[in-house]
Amino acid sequence: MRYERLIYIILAVVMLLFGCISLFYYMKALQNDVRIDQVHSQEKRDFHFVLIPQETDNDYWRLVEKGAREAEETLDVAVEYNGPKKTSVSEHIEWIEKAIASKVDGIITQGLDEEMFAPVINKAIDKGIPVITIDTDASSSKRSAYVGTDNYQAGFLAGLALIEDTGGKANVGIITGSFEARNMQLRVQGFRDAVQEAPKVEILDIKASNITRIQAAEKADEMISKYSGIDAFFGTSALDSYGIASTVQQRGRTEGVYIIAFDTLPETIQLIRDGIIDATVVQKPYKMGLESVKLLTQIGRGETVEPIHHTGTDILRREDLTKKEPSPYYLEGSQ
Ligand code: BGC
Repeated sequence: MRYERLIYIILAVVMLLFGCISLFYYMKALQNDVRIDQVHSQEKRDFHFVLIPQETDNDYWRLVEKGAREAEETLDVAVEYNGPKKTSVSEHIEWIEKAIASKVDGIITQGLDEEMFAPVINKAIDKGIPVITIDTDASSSKRSAYVGTDNYQAGFLAGLALIEDTGGKANVGIITGSFEARNMQLRVQGFRDAVQEAPKVEILDIKASNITRIQAAEKADEMISKYSGIDAFFGTSALDSYGIASTVQQRGRTEGVYIIAFDTLPETIQLIRDGIIDATVVQKPYKMGLESVKLLTQIGRGETVEPIHHTGTDILRREDLTKKEPSPYYLEGSQ
C-alpha cells in the first residue's frame, strides 16, 4: 500500500516536470518567432514583410503603416507592423533579429544609428532578406534601398524658413528627438548650415526630447528659464513641437516666440491654424510606407531598384493651409 502511494507520487512529480518543460519551450518558441504563425498562415500572399519602426505607438509611424497597408491591399503581399512600443534601440534591434529568425521576405526599418544598425541590417542581407531603410538611412550598411526624407535638406529648409519668417534675427533653442539618431543629426546640421548665413540668428542651446512631448516641454521650459532672450524654437521630430507649444502657451509667450516644427500630424496642423506654431517641415510618412512595400515587392520579384528614393519635403505655413485645405497631401503626404 505504502509502496503504491510512493509510485503515484513519483508519477505525479514526473508528469508535472514534463508539463513545466513543455511550457518553458513553448513560451521560448513564441518569443523567438515574430508572430511567425500569423505571418506564415497568410500563405496565399506572395511575400511576407515586416515594418519595424522605432516606436509603434506614434502617430507619425501610424501614417507610415497606413501607406504600407495601401500597398498591401493592391499588391499580393502581407505586411506586419511591429516593434518597440516606445523608442528603445536595443528592443528595436531585437525585433529585427526576430524578423531575420522568422525568415520574412523583407524588412523595412530605420537605420537610426549606423554603428548599431548596420551589423543587423547586413546580417539580414547576408541571409538573403532584403532590407529597406525608411525615414533614416544607414548608407554604410548593405541595405537594399532607402525610402524617405533627405534629412539634411529638410533641416536646411527649416533654417531658411526661420530666417525668412523672423527677418533674419532670432535667438533659437533646438529640441531634437535624439542626439544619436542619424536623421536628427542631419536635420540639425542642415539647420545650422542654413542659419550660418544669417549673422543675427544665434543658436542658444540644443536639448534632446527622446521623441516625447513631455520631455520636449520640459527642455523648452528649461531653456526659457535659462535664456531670457530666447525668441524662437526648432523642434526636429514630430512630437517636439507639441511640447514646445504647450510650454510657450503656459509661459504666456505665444506672441513673442517663433516656432518651426517637423511633420504635419493633425495636432501640428491645429497649432498652426491657432497661430501657435508658425511653420512646419512637411514629410511624407504615408508615401514612405507605400513606396517601401512596393520596392520590396519589386526586389522580391527579382527586379533591380535604385538605392535612394527621396520622398520630398516642403515648408507649410498658416497661409498655405487656408489656400490648400483640405488636402490629404499635407495630412498624409499621399501625393
Ligand atoms: C521622424 C521620425 C521619428 C518621429 C518621432 C519624425 O519627424 O522622421 O524618425 O520617429 O518624428 O515622432
